[in-house]
Amino acid sequence: MTNNQLTESGRLRHFLTIEGLKRPLLTEIMDRAEQFSSISHQQVKKVPLLRGKTIVNLFFENSTRTRTTFELAAKRLSADVMNLNISTSATSKGESLLDTLHNLESMHSDMFVVRHNQSGAAEFIAQHVAPHVSVINAGDGCHAHPTQAMLDMFTIRRHKHHFPDLRVAIVGDILHSRVARSQIQALAILGVGEIRVIGPKTLLPTDCQSLGVHVYHDMEEGLHDVDVVIMLRLQHERMQGALLPSAREYFKRYGLTEEKLRCAKPDAIVMHPGPINRGVEIASTVADGPQSVILEQVTHGIAIRMAVMSMTLGAQSEQEAQA
Ligand code: CP
Repeated sequence: MTNNQLTESGRLRHFLTIEGLKRPLLTEIMDRAEQFSSISHQQVKKVPLLRGKTIVNLFFENSTRTRTTFELAAKRLSADVMNLNISTSATSKGESLLDTLHNLESMHSDMFVVRHNQSGAAEFIAQHVAPHVSVINAGDGCHAHPTQAMLDMFTIRRHKHHFPDLRVAIVGDILHSRVARSQIQALAILGVGEIRVIGPKTLLPTDCQSLGVHVYHDMEEGLHDVDVVIMLRLQHERMQGALLPSAREYFKRYGLTEEKLRCAKPDAIVMHPGPINRGVEIASTVADGPQSVILEQVTHGIAIRMAVMSMTLGAQSEQEAQA
């Protein structure tokens, strides 16, 4: 295995991070998702691609969109799905993560979809699973959320087509955002013309410029002429200490209103990974407005997750056939 998530032939064995992946692989994920998108419009929303496979959703942290779209994606590929409810599992009786994992593995599971509040948790699990098991990172601490980044890239491609021509702004709490980190990596790999981050100094990583982004603290200036605006939630659960004056003050400076959105190109799209906090980082008139593609992002999550699951389990089968 190279890069911890690729097979020797460069196929996805796990999907843990966008970092280190190449443009053709990201394009393949989006192309495959494009093919899967139509399944959701069929009368019978199913294909038999993963029939007989068992996928376990292991969510140690809350989720609405990611968990449900992973479950729907697995079911549309005809896999059997188990959702382990961590709060009622034996984890609450002191069972270790690895013991939980090995018990689930002994039920002949083929894939773990993992969300955890600790950065590196998905990679740790991937290092300890049996060779036939794939691990997909559904968000780990402040580190990475690769399927979210891919569904965001897919949404941008649907609306804007050619990445190198684009100017993309990510606004808000970049410091604590696994989504922003994965998005910046994906946008750079896909060759986006200009990536901007906008936010107060306290919510931007100190090494921001090394990520290859342009930094703005003034929102109107940062939004000038952009094609895509990605808003982020304030991630209070990961903040240590007071980093902001007040939600009201934050909205005044960094909340996306119709007036601030007018600084972007007239056909700019507005994105948000969710959950959104109306009146904190985005006004309802914008979240529900004509430029918003926020609910489309959720829809695209199903096709992207179908693509990633079918690619990782496909690579596993290839390896098994060669062994
Ligand atoms: N975007 C996202 O990860 O949302 P959930 O926390 O609801 O899964």
